[in-house]
Amino acid sequence: MESKIIEEAQQYVKETLSGEGSGHDWWHIYRVYKLAITIAEKEGADRFICSMAALLHDIADEKLNSSEEAGMQKVSSWLSDHKITPADKIHILEIISSMSFKGGNSQGMQTIEGKVVQDADRLDAIGAIGIARAFAYSGYIGQLIYDPEIPVRSQMTKEEYRNGPSTAINHFYEKLLTLKGRMNTEHGKKLAEARHQLMETYLDEFFHEWEGIK
Ligand code: ADP
Ligand code: NI
Repeated sequence: MESKIIEEAQQYVKETLSGEGSGHDWWHIYRVYKLAITIAEKEGADRFICSMAALLHDIADEKLNSSEEAGMQKVSSWLSDHKITPADKIHILEIISSMSFKGGNSQGMQTIEGKVVQDADRLDAIGAIGIARAFAYSGYIGQLIYDPEIPVRSQMTKEEYRNGPSTAINHFYEKLLTLKGRMNTEHGKKLAEARHQLMETYLDEFFHEWEGIK
């Protein structure tokens, strides 16, 4: 039963997000889903809840819906149309509504399953994949690779976080390099280490090349 619901959720997400250009396409979901299962196993979290929350987490993204509420309503209806227990439904919705980064202003995760899925989503924002996504997202919103005249912002509201001005490279300092320190689970922290290191190395190279040193 559970594996059938997971398969249906995969199908639904594939249809809804395929070709999405801002970094929330099906393959982002696929990676977060795989990572969530890996971390759930290490942390003893419920695999079904983690799978479902990972698969559905971006269906509700406010950037892809008319509002945050409309997005949550979409997930809620889908869950009601499939045989999910009321307790599981509440749990999955709670995780998804707490997921977004929002410039660092969102509240913490309440359950181990929430911590696992949030770690999986954050891991997909760092490392080799994270670097690719930051540049893809920048192109999507028409933002520059880098501009030394646009300062890195340290504190920002959710609106400022979304609306810039920023650059792809600034985004590393405004978000990506902070994620290692925000990981919830032990295994998530471990996986974040190498990905973080790769970004540091990448930025070193980037600035050397920028100044024509290398
Ligand atoms: P969240 O909702 O968790 O803040 P997003 O959905 O905004 O994350 O981000 C999707 C992907 O795009 C992530 O990999 C993120 O790092 C990247 N991204 C988000 N905002 C920017 C930005 N201003 N510049 C470059 N990349 C960004
Ligand atoms: Ni995501």
